[in-house]
Amino acid sequence: MLTREQNELVTRIGPGAPMGNLLRRYWIPILLAEELPENECPPVRVKLLSERLLAWRDTQGRYALTDEFCAHRGVSLWFGRNEENGLRCPYHGWKYDYTGQCIEVPSEPQESGFCNKIKLKSYPLVESGGILWAYMGPPELKPPLPAFEWTELPPTHRYVSKRWQECNYLQAMEGGIDSSHYRCAPQCRAGALLLAHHPMDHALVHDGAALWRQCAQRTCLRADRRRELLHLDFYLSPHTTVERDGARHHA
Ligand code: FES
Repeated sequence: MLTREQNELVTRIGPGAPMGNLLRRYWIPILLAEELPENECPPVRVKLLSERLLAWRDTQGRYALTDEFCAHRGVSLWFGRNEENGLRCPYHGWKYDYTGQCIEVPSEPQESGFCNKIKLKSYPLVESGGILWAYMGPPELKPPLPAFEWTELPPTHRYVSKRWQECNYLQAMEGGIDSSHYRCAPQCRAGALLLAHHPMDHALVHDGAALWRQCAQRTCLRADRRRELLHLDFYLSPHTTVERDGARHHA
């Protein structure tokens, strides 16, 4: 059982928090690519690692992940207009490009250079495998772009979905690697019959159609000798998994 202090240490993930610094060292899957379906489409609000951000796509199709709030009076740019390679604030019309740089302040002459001094917080956002990935860490420590077997496949050969869980990342992760539930949950889910039980790491279960070997490492091996099926979950980062479920993948 964690102490209150230990729990605070591992679950606080805002800017500057130790765990926040760690999670910011990974590319994080934040949206399905289809949520920004076309150039100049409406921006999408994203709250990520305690930061309120906007994901959007400019006129040239460049992805942007910028501070949700205008640098002038703090209006939410979610209400702004996505037009001509920038997001324009609805209040006084300040306009920002995909890097967060202010490129226009209507009340100031362009030659004053005033807008050059204004820049919103922004992070890299890329598409890979039908998913939009954000990197929020130090630029000089940015890891390689996400590239996995399934991200290289054409869209016709993969299925990507998103699941929203109302909990902190540690609660989700704890449930995900909870090895003792593997001996129980499949039986409850599929009405399976427990055939054999190996105390240390795996159990054999039968779901009415096939025999499965279910291991603590999140591996199910179909063992009816006609066909073998391997079920694996990949850990992309300390707080992100991709689940393979037949032809389906979850992030
Ligand atoms: S609050 Fe955005 S331009 Fe003034």
